[in-house]
Amino acid sequence: MRLSKLHHLLIGAVVALAVVVPLGTFAFVKSGIYDVAASRPHTKFTEWLTHETMIHSVRSHAKGIEAPGHASAAQVAAGFCLYETHCVACHGAAAVARQQWVSGVEPAPPYLVDAARRWRPRELFWIARNGIKMTGMPAWRNALTDSQLWDVVAFLEAVPKMNSQTYVQWRAARLCGGAIGRPFPR
Ligand code: HEC
Repeated sequence: MRLSKLHHLLIGAVVALAVVVPLGTFAFVKSGIYDVAASRPHTKFTEWLTHETMIHSVRSHAKGIEAPGHASAAQVAAGFCLYETHCVACHGAAAVARQQWVSGVEPAPPYLVDAARRWRPRELFWIARNGIKMTGMPAWRNALTDSQLWDVVAFLEAVPKMNSQTYVQWRAARLCGGAIGRPFPR
């Protein structure tokens, strides 16, 4: 008798949950209570939830990718030029600040000076190629070829070994063609 009462209670609770949770979610979405403003940072909880999801998603999705072997100095330089054109505005570099408007991006794009310590080459490649949903990180697959993306990865891999002034020195040396805008010769 007691057991069947417990059963009823459990079934009641499950039904209530099955109704209350979707209804509550629907009401929450329609109410407009959630603040989507990028000018207000995520709560600690949302930040943890989205960041952890991103890390595990990238690790899992990049598993099948085979990274090319050792990168040449020319690839690193080509990667620098691509980074300078497409990435530095948001991510900055050693001794180079991010663009001022980037302070309005939520979540903020991190400096990538030590990205190669946090991510394997194939993971950097996957992130750059596919981007990250619901952040300002674009997918570059439509703008850059896979070989260009590996050049960017080669550059990011080289960054931790570079002197903190190297980036600005390469900039000053007009490695990418400077005013003429020629791409770095391979
Ligand atoms: C419009 C701004 C923007 C541009 C341009 C941009 N990114 Fe990002 N990127 C972001 C944001 C925002 C994040 C943070 C995503 C997050 O917190 O999950 C990010 C994250 C990353 C990460 C992961 C960093 C980490 O350690 O978690 C890598 C790697 C990366 N970007 C590479 C690149 C490369 C390479 C380029 C250029 C080809 C580039 N990004 C251009 C906004 C940008």
